Amino acid sequence: MLAPMRRAAADALTELEREIDAPGAGLDRLRLVPTPFVPEVRLHLAEDAIVWWARMEAAAGHALPAPYWASAWAGGQALARHLLDHPELAAGRRVLDLAAGSGLVAIAAALAGAATVTANDIDPYAVAAVTLNARANRVTVDATADDLLDGTGADADLVVAGDVFYDRAMADRVLPFLERAAAAGADVLVGDPGREHLPANRLAVLADYPVPTTEPAVDSSLRRVQVLRPV
Ligand SMILES: C[S@@+](CC[C@H](N)C(=O)[O-])C[C@H]1O[C@@H](n2cnc3c(N)ncnc32)[C@H](O)[C@@H]1O
Repeated sequence: MLAPMRRAAADALTELEREIDAPGAGLDRLRLVPTPFVPEVRLHLAEDAIVWWARMEAAAGHALPAPYWASAWAGGQALARHLLDHPELAAGRRVLDLAAGSGLVAIAAALAGAATVTANDIDPYAVAAVTLNARANRVTVDATADDLLDGTGADADLVVAGDVFYDRAMADRVLPFLERAAAAGADVLVGDPGREHLPANRLAVLADYPVPTTEPAVDSSLRRVQVLRPV
């Protein structure tokens, strides 16, 4: 018997497979599109994530988690670009993409030649989206829905985390996790567009990129996004 999280991710995968096969176009649809700042990677993204979410909730008859995986977040785009432009960071290594959303950064790590890639996200729909997106880009990514934040990053040589400082509760758990992973010997890279809860005094900037953003509720089409690591 499948554990509940694996069952939820398997059900979400069936649902998303139906969604991407459904005919029709419109704001409430998913489309397989090149990622604006990382066109080497194509993702199943919502034309409008809020509208897609509303339709799915209406069909389900109950609340669903916000579909963060249906947008390419600025932090993830910068981090994926950084890995593709510096493949030696991931090549031959065991990579963990924390809070993976669509799996963009995980897929970039795989394209850069990582030995293994694990994408982790507690949203079963994100786990399903990672599976679909990895398939669309012909790479192997292992997707898991366990909550890893109380651990150390297990066996990863490289931990990557795009746009994880978006709220206080998440930031309070993520920073100690990333610091433990670094103390255990992993390289750690974060992509962040200057979010309110970014612990800037605990991170050093390695690079920054002008990223076109397709996120909901962002009024500018370009954001400066930093790639950072714990000091
Ligand atoms: C803003 S999105 C970023 C997604 C992706 N990294 C990117 O840059 O496109 C944040 C993600 O964190 C995930 N998340 C929230 N709490 C988490 C946790 N405890 N462990 C793993 N992922 C988590 C959410 O489900 C969501 O997909």
